[in-house]
Amino acid sequence: MDIIAIITEKKKLFEDYLHDYLAGINAVSGIFDAFSYSLSAGGKRIRPILTMLACETLGGSSIQALPAGLAIEMIHTFSLIHDDLPALDNDGLRRGMPTCHKRFGEATAILAGDALIFQALSVISSSGYPEKVETDILRVIADVCGIDGLVQGEYLDVMAEGKDLTLDEIADIYRKKTSRLFELCMYSGARIATDDTQKIHAFMQYGAFLGLAFQAIDDILDITSTDEVLGKTSGKDQIQGKATVIKALGLENARLWAGQMTNEATRSIAQISDKRSNVLEELAQWMAQRVM
Ligand code: IPE
Ligand code: IPE
Ligand code: MG
Ligand code: MG
Ligand code: MG
Repeated sequence: MDIIAIITEKKKLFEDYLHDYLAGINAVSGIFDAFSYSLSAGGKRIRPILTMLACETLGGSSIQALPAGLAIEMIHTFSLIHDDLPALDNDGLRRGMPTCHKRFGEATAILAGDALIFQALSVISSSGYPEKVETDILRVIADVCGIDGLVQGEYLDVMAEGKDLTLDEIADIYRKKTSRLFELCMYSGARIATDDTQKIHAFMQYGAFLGLAFQAIDDILDITSTDEVLGKTSGKDQIQGKATVIKALGLENARLWAGQMTNEATRSIAQISDKRSNVLEELAQWMAQRVM
């Protein structure tokens, strides 16, 4: 199996879909400029790719998963725009370009982020998914993003600056700010293909562990990589006293921890494994080796 070829193919599907979506929007300039600037800036598109692979693995198609993948990428992009704001991480570089607020000003960036959330809901409600699937996805979006999810995780992350947290406390922040969106990818992709709750649950568990590994690796790369490779400012976590697994465990043990989370992810999926889910196992191992 050529996992890189699979990822490249899914990424292209997503980029074309996003391009057509943006071209079809009849919006006046202003917020929309900032909205499409951040959304089109690139990025790995790992969340839509996951959504597509979850759907395919359970017998659906990538095409069916595209609206959900787009909605999730919009939510992710909102979270990045707000994460970069001066009140949060105060970042100037994102996806190799000036951050949204650097380019358009804070007010526009905040509102573009807000618009991305609501537009994501609109994408789901005009997706043509069966009504039950649509409501289920909307319910999980609300759940993973709200006060027990992404927004809470971002809050805890900012509040933890300069403090010494335990590994459990750090993992809880990762779980909320990062893993829950990965759970949403797995949930949505799976739910479009099936209503088998046992499989959906296993897929979400995979997403949860994958998210933990993903955030740990993001934090490792912050220390070990460069602005040019990452397309964002490296070396900031330590300066800002961010709660990371590296701070709690040291760099080498943080790598081991990320490896353990990756193995847990593949173990979750192995419970219900058939041949098709090998791609998710390969993806997790590939992501564990990522350099950007
Ligand atoms: C960055 O996410 C934020 C984290 C959860 C670490 P990505 O690393 O997926 O960012 P893009 O989408 O590729 O820019
Ligand atoms: C934030 O983690 C994850 C989000 C939910 C946006 P980071 O703050 O480490 O993400 P980067 O490094 O700015 O992409
Ligand atoms: Mg942050
Ligand atoms: Mg940040
Ligand atoms: Mg980071």
